[in-house]
Amino acid sequence: PRVIYTHPTGEHREVEVPVGQNLMLGAAAHGIEGIVGDCGGAMSCATCHVIVDAAFAALLPAPDDTESQMLDFTAAPREANSRLSCQIVMSDRLDGIAIRIADPQV
Ligand code: FES
Repeated sequence: PRVIYTHPTGEHREVEVPVGQNLMLGAAAHGIEGIVGDCGGAMSCATCHVIVDAAFAALLPAPDDTESQMLDFTAAPREANSRLSCQIVMSDRLDGIAIRIADPQV
């Protein structure tokens, strides 16, 4: 299934991410900058902050308490559909999911 990663500049890339892989690792596998993933997906760094397109955000399980707390400490302000990309696990349902990489400079 495909993921469309959009940079804060508006530049975007569409890549294949295998089912079962999270979107932080998917970005790393394709050399997509801006999703850092310092903690390796342990929900303790929040450098993998992304904003999910609303139509797809509705398909995701709600963030658990830990993710929600981390989202309150991201470098870029939290938005309605902010998520940690290490917690979004690719599935066939999510084919074409569009996510915007949060901009820590904002
Ligand atoms: Fe650290 Fe997602 S990679 S919280």
